[in-house]
Amino acid sequence: MGYLSGKNILLGVTGGIAAYKSAELVRRLREQGAAVRVVMTAGAAEFITPLTLQALSGHPVATDLLDPAAEAAMGHIELARWADAVLVAPATANFMARRVHGRGDDLLTAVCLASDAPQAVAPAMNRGMWDDPATRQNIATLEGRGIRVFGPAEGGQACGESGPGRLLEPEQLTENLAGLFSNAALTGCRVLVTAGPTREALDPVRYLSNRSSGKMGLAVAAAAAEAGAQVTLVTGPVVLQTPSRVERIDVVTAAEMQQAVLERASAVDIFIAAAAVADYRPQFVAAQKLKKSAEKQVLELIRNPDILATVAALEAAPFTVGFAAETGSVERNARHKLQAKSLDMIAANRVGADLGFDADDNALQVFWEGGSAALEKTRKSRLARQLVALVAERYHHKHNGDKVIKLHAKDPA
Ligand code: PMT
Repeated sequence: MGYLSGKNILLGVTGGIAAYKSAELVRRLREQGAAVRVVMTAGAAEFITPLTLQALSGHPVATDLLDPAAEAAMGHIELARWADAVLVAPATANFMARRVHGRGDDLLTAVCLASDAPQAVAPAMNRGMWDDPATRQNIATLEGRGIRVFGPAEGGQACGESGPGRLLEPEQLTENLAGLFSNAALTGCRVLVTAGPTREALDPVRYLSNRSSGKMGLAVAAAAAEAGAQVTLVTGPVVLQTPSRVERIDVVTAAEMQQAVLERASAVDIFIAAAAVADYRPQFVAAQKLKKSAEKQVLELIRNPDILATVAALEAAPFTVGFAAETGSVERNARHKLQAKSLDMIAANRVGADLGFDADDNALQVFWEGGSAALEKTRKSRLARQLVALVAERYHHKHNGDKVIKLHAKDPA
């Protein structure tokens, strides 16, 4: 599986003859492991039926901004938030002109306006329309705003003319889209990531644990792989799919996590500890299921080793990044952990009911000696890309200075 595996792709289809190719495009995106939702303009629905794209994408196709039923199911703001990337293919000259002017008068333009995901357009039109100065200026404006333009290709056109203006083939579009998710910020680096909770047994059927789902840690592992790193993930019990190109080692207890990490830590360049490791474990694990005979039970707990601090103290310590899960005094506590554990960086998140643990969104305050960055609340997948870009920048700065950063770092998707 490639960079599109597990990604949410919002495909916009506008009204041109090339709209028929969107059926094949949906199929290819899904083959690559992406989830696809389609938004069509009214014009597009004249060229290909929503039912075709619904059948291929596996989701209802949205067409109308003012459809109460569709808005109640997954409204334009939810669609915008759901997308990891937005691709409009084919994109007509009219759509791009409306996009340039920030119009939000149909569902597709409204979703594009609302989304902060990376966006791309794949123009398709008659060669004369493509060459028109207004279209060229619109393309330049969109590119200037960071919207990627895929194509167009040259060749025979539906109108009988020949020249630039053909929609790129679905295979090429899929490849270009995958490129939005990859960069070279950590090419050649080995990265070790921990994720998820640990479980500390009380008896054969009970354990102490926490609400970590592993979403944050797995997103970090995926983002590091997208950045070109060779990634090993050591994870506690989670029910998530392993990201593409990530080696996964499953563990249960803090002791197992520590062993798996220490076996590898000296051989990696970067260690990122996103796991919520149990700080304590029961001193005694009952061989049989504990009986509820007594009115009160007292549990004796003993401290687990601090995996992060142990790695940071290694003679050949990698660039070490910790997380801090805090319910209050976030900055003070995070800065304390940064110093006390001798870390290179720490990513702090406020946790509580619906915050941090098990949520799809998160926000991070990242600290290092002499600097900090606030990463706004967004989907964990996107946040992880921003964090990995920051880690790459600081890592290269530590090892090579600013010159190499400029050669390696790219904007995060
Ligand atoms: O998994 P999710 O549901 O997506 O939730 C994400 C998260 C909230 C778990 C994640 O963003 C997060 O904050 N992870 C760290 C949780 C934590 O245990 O924080 P802490 O402040 O208690 O620990 C500080 C650091 O020391 C962490 O990097 C932790 O991995 C590490 N640690 C802690 C204890 C221990 N015995 N060994 C460790 O390595």
